[in-house]
Amino acid sequence: MTSDNDRRRGLLARLRGRPVARSRGRRRLGAAVRLFAALMLAGGAYTVFAPGAQAQDNPPMSAAAGEGKALFDVSCVTCHGRNAQGVEGRGPSLIGVGSAAVEFQVSSGRMPMARQEAQAMRKPPAFTDEQVRQLGQYIQELGGGPQVPEGNNLHQNADLAAGGELFRINCSQCHAFGGGGGALSSGKYAPSLHPASDRQIYAAMLSGPQNMPVFGDNQLRPEQKADIIAYIQENLKHTQDQGGFNLGRYGPSTEGLAAFLIGIVALVFASLWIAGKS
Ligand code: HEC
Ligand code: HEC
Repeated sequence: MTSDNDRRRGLLARLRGRPVARSRGRRRLGAAVRLFAALMLAGGAYTVFAPGAQAQDNPPMSAAAGEGKALFDVSCVTCHGRNAQGVEGRGPSLIGVGSAAVEFQVSSGRMPMARQEAQAMRKPPAFTDEQVRQLGQYIQELGGGPQVPEGNNLHQNADLAAGGELFRINCSQCHAFGGGGGALSSGKYAPSLHPASDRQIYAAMLSGPQNMPVFGDNQLRPEQKADIIAYIQENLKHTQDQGGFNLGRYGPSTEGLAAFLIGIVALVFASLWIAGKS
């Protein structure tokens, strides 16, 4: 009985106390709850309507890029770092270099570099064409960048004469008129173009390895690149030297020097011979 009474009294007290209790504390609590609910709602609505924001942080990688990453983590990570962001004093960041740079470096055997040297050398490639493509795809999906167009013949229907002109303006100062290459400063050199494939020439122009400038599509339009490739492949690689020695095709000054030296020696011997006769 007493407990019943107590309960009733307590209820009454609570009912009576209600307006007082509700005044400050509860109202504040209510406001906090409403604010929290509103925030949750806004957050929920954001995730529902903006799913792209999450997807962009971690885009799914293609199968080829996944294979490429696996190769990269074995052969390249020591110098170029996890996620290709570069390692101080070992290798540069590859973010944004594109699949063109990877294709050039790996298909010509320059990468993986064996040791630190002034200039990575051309050697037999360590990877198959398929693996080169996968490595390139990985770097492409990681940071974007220039890409070589599809196909192995990139100089169909190109203009040889225009290519010759463009070559002499843009390339011959380093690679020589005959494409044989030549020395540059501090132990570096511009290599011979003779072993390069169409794709490697295109990739070299797009990526500008070492001291070579980048020839983007603004500097040399894709048709002009095709013309240059045609000139290198069809003309430079097949030129016969009718006169015998080409003297590196360095041009008239080397030829003049050779003629001078050979001529002087001949004249000296001739005069010695005449002097001996008399
Ligand atoms: C022993 C260290 C080393 C290893 C291993 C190595 N690299 Fe490099 N890499 C370098 C250095 C140093 C350079 C810059 C010098 C140069 O361009 O010749 C470079 C440059 C490059 C570039 C050119 C970047 C640009 O800006 O154009 C690419 C692409 C590249 N490496 C890809 C790779 C890939 C792919 C692998 C693995 C298959 C690899 N490298 C393994 C040291 C290394
Ligand atoms: C300022 C000098 C310079 C100019 C100009 C230049 N190159 Fe190069 N090129 C180089 C150097 C240096 C290398 C070597 C890069 C390396 O080994 O990493 C090179 C490498 C190359 C290769 C790679 C050869 C191989 O081993 O497969 C090709 C192809 C090439 N250049 C094409 C061109 C073309 C085409 C042009 C003109 C549009 C051009 N270059 C202009 C300096 C130059």
